Amino acid sequence: MDIAPPKHWSQFWQQGHITTFGAALKDNYEGAIKNFWLEQFQTLPPTTELLDVATGNGALALLAAHYADDHQRDWRINACDLAEINRTGDEHPRIELHSGVPCESLPFKNSRFDFVSSQFGFEYSDKAVSLAEIYRTLKPGGRFAAICHHRDSYTLQESRKEMAIYQQGLEKNNIFRAAIAYYQAEAEGAADTAEKQKGVNYAVNRLRQGNAGNPCCDQMVGAISHAIRSAGTRVQQETIAELVSMNDEFTGAYQRLQDLVSAALNAEDMQGLVVLCRNAGFTGVDLGQVFHAPGQLAGFSLIATR
Ligand SMILES: C[S@@+](CC[C@H](N)C(=O)[O-])C[C@H]1O[C@@H](n2cnc3c(N)ncnc32)[C@H](O)[C@@H]1O
Repeated sequence: MDIAPPKHWSQFWQQGHITTFGAALKDNYEGAIKNFWLEQFQTLPPTTELLDVATGNGALALLAAHYADDHQRDWRINACDLAEINRTGDEHPRIELHSGVPCESLPFKNSRFDFVSSQFGFEYSDKAVSLAEIYRTLKPGGRFAAICHHRDSYTLQESRKEMAIYQQGLEKNNIFRAAIAYYQAEAEGAADTAEKQKGVNYAVNRLRQGNAGNPCCDQMVGAISHAIRSAGTRVQQETIAELVSMNDEFTGAYQRLQDLVSAALNAEDMQGLVVLCRNAGFTGVDLGQVFHAPGQLAGFSLIATR
């Protein structure tokens, strides 16, 4: 199956983040999420072939590799993602990372793996096709374990808020495009240069109304301010290039949030996943919820046995 690598995810992983949550979880997953995986790892035999799908830069693969190191396990770990991931990051001899690999078409032979994992991963794909692929690559008796985005989790609540701010900055008020248009007009000596400059101020002020102090808003406004401050000391083309690059970066963040929000599942969707698992051939399927703390949802869990 030919699926193009998503540029906005490749852009993120090339920046070297370990987890999806970037600077907020810069070393690896912690707490309830980490504990969920440690419980899974404890049940695996000393010699195990693992696969982590939609792995990003391999956070979960690294958790497994470190567990294997600490517990003298002979584990081999494959980890793949549709995006162009950063293979020069924190590599580990037990891990083989693969870029450009969709969950829907796994380049591994039948019945190879004892354990397949997915963390905030396979729900981004065509789930029915991916579950059939995961089933195919598992050994009989092998297990698929996943933590999936929950629509009511704190992450999703925050993501929807951030998405709304990016939407205002990038689509409704188009602050970067307004600034690019102004510097282009200035470079060309266009008659409407002053009008375009007013357009930038207007767009930025509209974004700031009610959003000033919000980190997403402040970062976008900060990027525009930086370009404007530097403009006096360089040719317009350099300022335009900086604004284009900033626009790309923020648009990438906005697209990742859009992906995240549309991948998130509710309880009914999870029941649908159970049906998809059974259709793919899985026998036992268990659903659960993972909590950071009482009342603080981290996500749904799914464990399916071939
Ligand atoms: C939220 S990130 C999760 C990354 C990692 N598992 C983690 O927990 O940090 C979602 C990942 O799914 C990947 N992805 C999206 N669609 C995919 C598909 N069809 N097949 C494989 N990976 C996909 C994206 O490239 C992205 O890296």
